[in-house]
Amino acid sequence: MLTETANAKINLFLDVCSRREDGYHELHSCMQSVGLCDTVTAELRPSSERRLRFSCTDASLPCDERNLAYRAAVLFLEAAGVENYDLRLTVEKRIPLSAGLGGGSADAAAVLRLLNRAFEKPLDAARLGALGARLGADVPFCIVGGTCRCLGVGEILEPVGGRPDYTVLIAKDGEGMSTPEAFSLLDARFGDFSGHASPDPEAIYQALACGDVRRLADCAYNIFEEVVLPIRPKAKRLKEIMLRAGALCAQMSGSGPSVFGIFQSDARAELCAARLRHEGIFAVACRTVG
Ligand code: C5P
Repeated sequence: MLTETANAKINLFLDVCSRREDGYHELHSCMQSVGLCDTVTAELRPSSERRLRFSCTDASLPCDERNLAYRAAVLFLEAAGVENYDLRLTVEKRIPLSAGLGGGSADAAAVLRLLNRAFEKPLDAARLGALGARLGADVPFCIVGGTCRCLGVGEILEPVGGRPDYTVLIAKDGEGMSTPEAFSLLDARFGDFSGHASPDPEAIYQALACGDVRRLADCAYNIFEEVVLPIRPKAKRLKEIMLRAGALCAQMSGSGPSVFGIFQSDARAELCAARLRHEGIFAVACRTVG
């Protein structure tokens, strides 16, 4: 039995540079893996036929082509030219769904890594990344993990060194919205993005390079906050609660509605998480992952 961890991601910085002809958006995103994770398990038996069984601990998730992790398995087996298999995959979910934490992408990436390991690395890193990009814009990052500068639609990755280790509180309250819907809100607001005054993304990499968490918190940015927070008051409230609880910054991740707070004190993050959980809100304090 093989196991792989599927870490959630947060966007320390997320800006849209332009809208492409095909409707996708050119981004500048600084992504960070965090300790909140799902677990993917694979059981592989010798077989003279092709058999893929897929299950998930969250009953609300489909276990067929509608599930990105299932699609990742099918895509891998095809790309690696695996003839026969009896494969059982299980996803143990902890990352909230449709939250801006990349849960589905993390599961798909973990399936790709896990199967590449199980079949003794038939695909190199570049081919695995290209398969990931076919599944979704966040999947290439989730294959690599750690801290990365992500450009293009998310497929151009540059790992970032000098990452400070710190605590983040991740919380989700209320309904999310689909990613395309969130992008169309941005389009309605910013048009072709030429008039959008982007903050300097380099400041975040300087803060990361010198391991300065306080400065990092000052440079955090997410363009989606401008269009999503006004219609997701519960996310706005989470930000306020985290800031009052001592967070250096509190920001929406991806297109929301989850919010992360950067804390210097583990005790304060834990206390705030416990308070939110008491209200029935999903909240987890965890460390960043390299
Ligand atoms: O690639 P993924 O399936 O995660 O993207 C979901 C949707 O988000 C896309 O269909 C597209 O509408 C939007 N998107 C975008 N620009 C990106 C990433 C996603 O417009 N860079």
